Amino acid sequence: MNDLIFTNSVGKSLATIVAGMNEPRLFVLTDANTSQFVLPRLVEQYPALSTAVNITVHAGDFNKTLDAARDVWKVLIDHEASRHDVLINVGGGVVTDLGGFVASTYRRGMHFINIPTTLLGAVDASVGGKNGVNFGGFKNQIGTFAVADATIISSCFFDTLTDRDMLSGYAEMLKHALLDSPKMLARLLAFNVLEAQSADLLALIEENVKVKRSIVDADFREAGPRKALNLGHTAAHAFESLAMARRSPIPHGYAVAAGCVVALVLSHLKFKFPSDTLHAFAAYVREHYEPVEFTCDDYPALLNYMAHDKKNDHHGIFNYTLLKAPGKPMVNVALTAEDITGALDIYRDLMGI
Ligand SMILES: NC(=O)c1ccc[n+]([C@@H]2O[C@H](COP(=O)([O-])OP(=O)(O)OC[C@H]3O[C@@H](n4cnc5c(N)ncnc54)[C@H](O)[C@@H]3O)[C@@H](O)[C@H]2O)c1
Repeated sequence: MNDLIFTNSVGKSLATIVAGMNEPRLFVLTDANTSQFVLPRLVEQYPALSTAVNITVHAGDFNKTLDAARDVWKVLIDHEASRHDVLINVGGGVVTDLGGFVASTYRRGMHFINIPTTLLGAVDASVGGKNGVNFGGFKNQIGTFAVADATIISSCFFDTLTDRDMLSGYAEMLKHALLDSPKMLARLLAFNVLEAQSADLLALIEENVKVKRSIVDADFREAGPRKALNLGHTAAHAFESLAMARRSPIPHGYAVAAGCVVALVLSHLKFKFPSDTLHAFAAYVREHYEPVEFTCDDYPALLNYMAHDKKNDHHGIFNYTLLKAPGKPMVNVALTAEDITGALDIYRDLMGI
């Protein structure tokens, strides 16, 4: 897998990587927020970046589209970029997904470096080689598996993020902890991500990303074991779709936190996942994340979204990743609509909605 570098000296690290390449021209992809909040700080750390061609796209998942990709390809062509030049993606998951897709398809693949600037990007989106754009109303329908030349992971740009952005990323860290061990889970449930020192957070991120990395290294193209990383995501995508349909989108990580509670309820019912851990996790989510609101009238819509999830190989069967215990995932667990509506009832009880 790609070279993951954990450091808060991002500019220095970037300079070293570029110096090891064959004198590439530098292209920097940002969105409207990272061009304002992050790029000037990065240029201060690595002045050579001031001569780079900066391409800025609109912020937000809504803009992770083929149109945005076309705009970036066009700038690369206008500047006669070659495969030996490098696209430096500076942003959250939207920028690294889009930039990785553009770079991996431009002239059959140019160099790219990811510099994630959100917690979610640092622990998840920028790691693992999945790139892509949304298409036809569905997420990540067009994309590539392509690994960045390097991913520089830091916590030094998080000070301009909102608490919601931080908690959204933290939900993916909690998911990794559930996949790792009771010990890591207990540590994360006791950690205050909103008050953390930058260096402490970076150390925790490094440990957490190793969980994802070891799963991805064992199954890069998701033939089997990598599906463990889908924990919580079947329900999460349905919650996101419901929120989107109501025109009140929720952050991805908030949906993942709720989706993990649903997955743990199902894990308890099917595989005797320890009930004290389920309750500790649900209490954490209830305290820190506003719940995804729905009633039993929404069950048909939620089941319909789950039925269309691309993780389902066969129509009518709901394919879930569950856990026997923290660190013991079970992939491709086939569930019925009754299993899921029962778990949604229990989720609502646990969240008090
Ligand atoms: N490729 C993968 O494996 C993978 C995994 C998980 C999620 N994703 C994708 O990641 C995306 C979500 O990522 P995200 O939560 O980082 O969203 P995002 O990229 O939209 O960033 C969230 C918001 O924060 C802003 N921002 C970014 N860095 C900032 C900073 N340092 N200071 C101030 N504002 C900043 C952005 O402009 C945006 O408005 C989704 O498109 C999702 O599909 C991909």
